[in-house]
Amino acid sequence: MFRIGVLVSGGGTNLQAILDAVEDGSLPVDIAVVISNRPDAFALERARRRGVPTVVVPLADYPGRKSHEAAVARELERAGAELVVLAGYDRIARHAVLAAYSGRIINIHPALLPAFAGTLHAQEGALAYGVKISGCTVHFVTEEVDCGPIIVQRAVEVREDDTVDSLKARILAEEHRALPDAIRLIATGRTRIEGRRVAILPEG
Ligand code: GRF
Repeated sequence: MFRIGVLVSGGGTNLQAILDAVEDGSLPVDIAVVISNRPDAFALERARRRGVPTVVVPLADYPGRKSHEAAVARELERAGAELVVLAGYDRIARHAVLAAYSGRIINIHPALLPAFAGTLHAQEGALAYGVKISGCTVHFVTEEVDCGPIIVQRAVEVREDDTVDSLKARILAEEHRALPDAIRLIATGRTRIEGRRVAILPEG
């Protein structure tokens, strides 16, 4: 089975969507490891409840970003991960993880890229800018933050009475579909990176 490693930092609702899709048989992957840079991330608890191996790699244990990322890359390789999924991971993977997994790391961003790239506050940005449609994007990770080839996007409307929280919630519901969809496409060999475009190949 295709093995994935998931990097998390927070509540882990995207990880939960992956766990649920694996459980119901709609996502044919083995979650080899869930790695968090934060020991208190609730995402770790979600993984443990399903018997998925977890590893905590705290930033404070390392002298700098590069050595921390090297430790994360070692854990991914030790677990035999073939694809790395950043699911609410609050670090940028651009050193050792990117070197080891170039073209095999994906991230989910809560906006329709290239709009509102490079910010942890994309939903606030969308509301402040006044866009009428926003959404989420799953993309391959490259050196430049939020700029890699796009695999899946899902749109949501921005409503007149939206607050940051209500827009976040509506986008999050779409993230929970988009991320398992993107992983499924990759795990079943249906993606091919062509320059900055991802070709989606037919089923079978
Ligand atoms: C999501 O909105 C994701 O797009 C962003 O961080 C949030 C993580 O949510 N990068 P969760 O931890 O998966 O619940």
